[in-house]
Amino acid sequence: MATEGVPLTIVGAGAVGRTLGRLFAETGHLVPFAIVNRSRASAASAARFITGAVEAYDDLGALARTQRQAVVMIATPDREIVATAQKLAQLRLVDDTSIVFHCSGALDSSALAACAAEGAATASVHPLATFADPATLIERFAGVFCMTEGMPSALAVLQPAFVALGARVIALSASAKVLYHAGAVFASNYLQAVLEAAFRCEALAGIEAHVARDMLAPLIRVSVANALSMGARNALTGPLARRDDELVKLQFERLAQNDGALAACYADLAAWTCHILGRNDPLARSP
Ligand SMILES: NC(=O)c1ccc[n+]([C@@H]2O[C@H](COP(=O)([O-])OP(=O)(O)OC[C@H]3O[C@@H](n4cnc5c(N)ncnc54)[C@H](OP(=O)(O)O)[C@@H]3O)[C@@H](O)[C@H]2O)c1
Repeated sequence: MATEGVPLTIVGAGAVGRTLGRLFAETGHLVPFAIVNRSRASAASAARFITGAVEAYDDLGALARTQRQAVVMIATPDREIVATAQKLAQLRLVDDTSIVFHCSGALDSSALAACAAEGAATASVHPLATFADPATLIERFAGVFCMTEGMPSALAVLQPAFVALGARVIALSASAKVLYHAGAVFASNYLQAVLEAAFRCEALAGIEAHVARDMLAPLIRVSVANALSMGARNALTGPLARRDDELVKLQFERLAQNDGALAACYADLAAWTCHILGRNDPLARSP
């Protein structure tokens, strides 16, 4: 482990905070020395995961006994970021020598305005990855895209630190963040939701879950590969592309008899698919 680097305080060492903390500890550009979580036990567990001489706290106020913070990474849930920045400022934990950044995909660095008012350089860095399993991700972090935004003086320190982790750093404007993150939500969360709809249809058809997964897996994989290589408009096949509108109506009605939410999802996705195909929606209700 490297022994030199800029001291890093992590406020919110959950999935993202502990993963990045461990990676920073290994590369040494930023050196974790303090963790603040809501619970002391959780902070201590994160400190053990990160390794090194990391102090664990359950209150930002405890940091007031230490020096001003050099770099602060806020990896709390998004809803806590503004309040955390305000508390850092109120406690005079940051000044014009500090860098404060958060890891939210949708929020930009203006969420850290309270710290900027104290003179701190602020930024946001969003790693575009799923942090469900930190122990696995630390082995596979190289190549992860990290979207950065914020003050140049903050990014001058943060970008090299993330590049040292193997990240592929891309700069975004503050105004682009919400839309950028909406794309990530579609690619991850809503893709999961669509696949769950497919599995529930097979369950309604009486097909066992493990068979449905095995059966649909090749279709899912080739559909994703085709969408990536040729785009949805060229890759789309199936009843809407073939204009088998009666079949579309029959599927909707049968779903509606079994599961109203699933039928509504089918109709919404049919509308969006028709929009992509540039055709009329056979399920659209007349006004
Ligand atoms: N999860 C992902 O895949 C992912 C990917 C990219 C970016 N992000 C972003 O990364 C950030 C963190 O997400 P996450 O998934 O790592 O969240 P998480 O696993 O829920 O962890 C959040 C951590 O914040 C701590 N915390 C909550 N409120 C706090 C407060 N007021 N003061 C201090 N600590 C507090 C919690 O402490 P306790 O453990 O004591 O409750 C917990 O350790 C979010 O901005 C999120 O949008 C997430």
